[in-house]
Amino acid sequence: MNDFIYENSTKIYFGKDQLRKLSVELCKHGKRVLLTYGGGSVKTSGLYDKVVEEIKKSGLQLFELPGIEPNPRIESVRKGAEICKREKIDVLLAVGGGSTIDATKYIAAAACVDFDPWDFFSKFSPLKEALPVVIILTHSATGSEMNTGGVISNLETKEKIGRLARPLLPKASFLDPTNTYTVGPYQTACGSADIMSHIIEVYFNMNKGLYMVDCFMEGMMKTVIKYAPIAMKEPDNYEARSNLMWASSWGINGFISSGKRQAWSCHSMEHELSAFYDITHGLGLAILTPRWMEYCLDETKVSKYYQFGTNVFGIDPTLEPMTVAKKSIEMLSDFLFNTLGLQSTLTEIGIGKENFPIMAKKACEGEVIAGFKPLAQKDIEKIFEMCL
Ligand code: NZQ
Ligand code: ZN
Repeated sequence: MNDFIYENSTKIYFGKDQLRKLSVELCKHGKRVLLTYGGGSVKTSGLYDKVVEEIKKSGLQLFELPGIEPNPRIESVRKGAEICKREKIDVLLAVGGGSTIDATKYIAAAACVDFDPWDFFSKFSPLKEALPVVIILTHSATGSEMNTGGVISNLETKEKIGRLARPLLPKASFLDPTNTYTVGPYQTACGSADIMSHIIEVYFNMNKGLYMVDCFMEGMMKTVIKYAPIAMKEPDNYEARSNLMWASSWGINGFISSGKRQAWSCHSMEHELSAFYDITHGLGLAILTPRWMEYCLDETKVSKYYQFGTNVFGIDPTLEPMTVAKKSIEMLSDFLFNTLGLQSTLTEIGIGKENFPIMAKKACEGEVIAGFKPLAQKDIEKIFEMCL
C-alpha cells in the first residue's frame, strides 16, 4: 500500500428523518440561500415543497435556480454564478442527482472569481475557494455528494470535463433513501452501473498489498449486484435504496482509492461519448466496461480478474484462471445488460464510428490513459469499435 493522506469532512445526515436539521446546517453559513435543482423531479416528488417550507420556517432568504440539465452545461454554471454575485448568496443548496450537484459546486466556485467559469476546465485556472454547498441527494450514482469532483459539459466545444478541487467538497449532505423512491428503473440501472464502474476503475490495478480495500470494494460491488434489481422492481424498498445510496457515496469519496495508483480508463472514454452524444453517463459506462475488461485481459493481469470473478460473482475457484477471467466478464455483462436491462451496444443507442478517432484522441489527451493497461488513441478506438 502506498502512502496517503485521507480527509473527508462532508457531514452526512443519513436516513428518513433528517430534514429538520437542514436549516441548522444552512444557518452556519449565512442567511441567503440559493436553491438549485434539475428538470422538475423534485417538484413532482413533493421534495421541493418540504425543502422550501423548512427553509422559510427558519427565516432564511431563498433564491432559486431551476432547470439544471443532466450532463450539466456551463451556461447553467454561468447563470448560477451571476445570481450568487448579484444577490450576495451565502450558501448553496443543491437538491438533485450528480448533475445538479456538480453544477452547484462549480457555481459556488465561479461566484468567487472574475473570469469565465469554463476557464476552470479549459485553462485549469486556479480554484482556491468556493461558497459553501449543502446537498440533498435524490439519486444514487455519482458520489458527488461526498467528494471534491464536478463534471461540466460545453456543447459548443463538444467537451465534457471533470475536475477535482478541495473547496468543492460539500459541507453537508442529506442522504434520505426515500428521496430516491421516485427514480425510475432505467435511471436506477444507470446509477447502479455508475457506482459499479467507480469501484471497477479502482479495483482493477496491479498494486499489491491492498487486501483490506479490495475486500471493501468486493463488498460494495456485491451490494450493487444484490440491491439494484430489487430497487428497480420495488422502488420503495428502503433496504435496497439505502444500501445503494451509501454505496454511491463510498464508491468515490476517496477511501477506496487511497494507497494505490489511480487507474481510471472507462470514465475518460465515457465522457467523450456524453460530450458528443449527450448520453446518460451510467449507460455509457455499462457499454464500455466489459469491452474494456476484455481488451485489457492478458496473462499478466489475469489474477485480478480471477479475484474479481471468484469473490464477486462466486465463480468456481478450481477453474483455470483464464476461464474464470472470461466468465467474470460474461457475468458482468449479464448483470448490466440482462438483469439491469441496459442497452448493450453503441449501435443500439444510435452511435456510429464516425467520431471515434477524435473522441479517442480527446479521451487520452493525445497521449495515453495511464490506467490498468495504458491506452493510446488506437487502443481506445478499438475499444469503441468493440462496443458497436
Ligand atoms: O433533472 P431532474 O428532473 O431532477 O431529473 C433527473 C434526471 O433526468 C432524474 N432524477 C434525479 N433524481 C430523481 C430523478 N427522477 C425521479 N426521482 C428522483 N428522485 O434522473 C435523471 C438523471 O439525473 P442526473 O443528476 O443527471 O444523474 P446522475 O446522478 O447520474 O449525474 C450524472 C452526472 O454526474 C457526472 C456525470 O458525468 C453526469 O454529468 N459525474 C459526476 C461525478 C462526480 N462529481 O464525482 C463522478 C461521476 O463519475 C460522473 O462523471
Ligand atoms: Zn461515474
